[in-house]
Amino acid sequence: MKRLNSQLQKDGAPLELILLIRTLLAGCKEISFRVSQGALAGVLGSTLSENVQGETQKKLDVISNQILKDILKDSGYVKAISSEEEDDVVPCHPDGKYLVSFDPLDGSSNTEINSLIGTIFSIAHAPQWMEPDDPSAFLQPGTQMVAAGYVLYGPSTMLAMTTGRGTHLYTLDKTHGGFLVTQANIQVPEDTAEFAINASNQRHWEEPIQNYIGDLMAGADGPRGKDYNMRWVAAMVGDIHRVLCRGGIFMYPFDKRNPKKPGKLRLLYEANPMAFLMEQAGGLASTGEGRIMEVMPSEIHQRVPVLIGSKNEVAKCLEYY
Ligand code: AHG
Ligand code: MN
Ligand code: MN
Repeated sequence: MKRLNSQLQKDGAPLELILLIRTLLAGCKEISFRVSQGALAGVLGSTLSENVQGETQKKLDVISNQILKDILKDSGYVKAISSEEEDDVVPCHPDGKYLVSFDPLDGSSNTEINSLIGTIFSIAHAPQWMEPDDPSAFLQPGTQMVAAGYVLYGPSTMLAMTTGRGTHLYTLDKTHGGFLVTQANIQVPEDTAEFAINASNQRHWEEPIQNYIGDLMAGADGPRGKDYNMRWVAAMVGDIHRVLCRGGIFMYPFDKRNPKKPGKLRLLYEANPMAFLMEQAGGLASTGEGRIMEVMPSEIHQRVPVLIGSKNEVAKCLEYY
């Protein structure tokens, strides 16, 4: 099986990017280990603090954030990072060539129940003019990403990653600590009969998504003419992994509850990296109004609506908008 390095070289990734990715993944391997220790290491449960999003931080959110922050700061490859668990950008090395955005632990409520969680990341070039503590360089559209991926801490620890030459799946071989390519150039099936949405929010949705989901729920007797199945992992990383592997549509749509939160998921470190992975696997990723990767961010923790997955199903959903 092909190793990470060979795949990245084959895809034409520059050496410094390869080294950065390897550094980042070394941090993820440590998170994978901590997560697997669970209650034995006392890492489960909540802290007494809230992050900038107003969410109570889990101990593992804080631990994972610290691991990635430390390893990236020390590497010298990174000028600055933005993280779900950091209010502001974290300056790193003045000569670092890259910007890294990450959700250190996605789906952290699942830590309580020993269920799927993961780390999501995206990497972009750091402009030379940028001061390491300047957030404005992060405010570039997702089309500028040079790499993105997630590490899924499940029964196996898996990596899905793209550098713009297809999306590849890797599995961590814990016997020697390397990520091996277990599926190169994954292609998301264009059609599907599976969807993922938190249906308890239905009363807050806008009309297009109300109508679309209504038609899916109508099944074989409705306008779509087939029965659909619904799944919800409560961790985007788990839901998107299922969609990548077997097709589907994952949605966290616009929500009328709070005008300051147009959707739940964050653009820089949740929506954009997943959109890049999905597009590179032949799928689509939209806000309902346009391509996720073309959204111009106005702040580092910006939220966007997300409709992502199998090409024909996302296209169908967009017809309702
Ligand atoms: P995080 O744990 O990083 O805050 O993200 C959780 C997100 C996302 O992963 C998941 O799809 C969604 O929240 C779950 O939302 P519900 O609470 O609506 O199930
Ligand atoms: Mn998340
Ligand atoms: Mn998180």
